[in-house]
Amino acid sequence: MQIRAASAADWPALWPIVKAAVDAGETYVWRPTPSSEEMRALWLAPAPWHICVAELDGEIVGTAKVGPNRPGRGAHVATASFIVSPDHQGRGVGRALGEYIVRWAMDAGYRGMQFNAVVATNTGAVALWQSLGFDVIGTVPKAFDHPTQGLVDLHVMYRTL
Ligand SMILES: CC(C)(COP(=O)(O)OP(=O)(O)OC[C@H]1O[C@@H](n2cnc3c(N)ncnc32)[C@H](O)[C@@H]1OP(=O)(O)O)[C@@H](O)C(=O)NCCC(=O)NCCS
Repeated sequence: MQIRAASAADWPALWPIVKAAVDAGETYVWRPTPSSEEMRALWLAPAPWHICVAELDGEIVGTAKVGPNRPGRGAHVATASFIVSPDHQGRGVGRALGEYIVRWAMDAGYRGMQFNAVVATNTGAVALWQSLGFDVIGTVPKAFDHPTQGLVDLHVMYRTL
């Protein structure tokens, strides 16, 4: 697997992957799903954001983005988002992206990383982030409207870098 910086030319391959996650409605808040153009502007954000893609045999199978969680005096703490193609989940792509993003943020000088809204029912993601050193530092009760489970909790997860 190769992880490299994303470019605008990657969007046609990224859009179906991002759309699948947003359409599923179980892990991200966007509703209705933004258009391709709207989502491209959101996902492929300009610097200081860093967006990467994971490739398997030349096929893009996942993506992640990392950047400042807050502007100005909060900008030394990063935040990040991750999406792996449904066809390629459970095979280590998410872990590889997580390790890459943590390393990238360390090298960029960030002092911590905060995930603001990890859906509590997304147990695979919670376990993955915990295994990468993140703790649940708070839980917002019933803050996410899950398509099948109703109002469920959102975790704030954090690790020092
Ligand atoms: C969350 C996501 C990025 C993880 O990517 P992935 O490629 O499926 O994850 P991996 O195959 O690297 O799995 C890594 C770890 O996840 C954990 N995991 C995965 N599925 C799990 C499950 N059903 N229950 C518990 N742990 C699970 C394991 O700890 C696994 O550890 P291992 O490497 O020791 O086996 C991916 O599933 C995804 O894109 N989901 C939809 C969008 C999303 O949830 N994004 C994150 C929002 S916080």
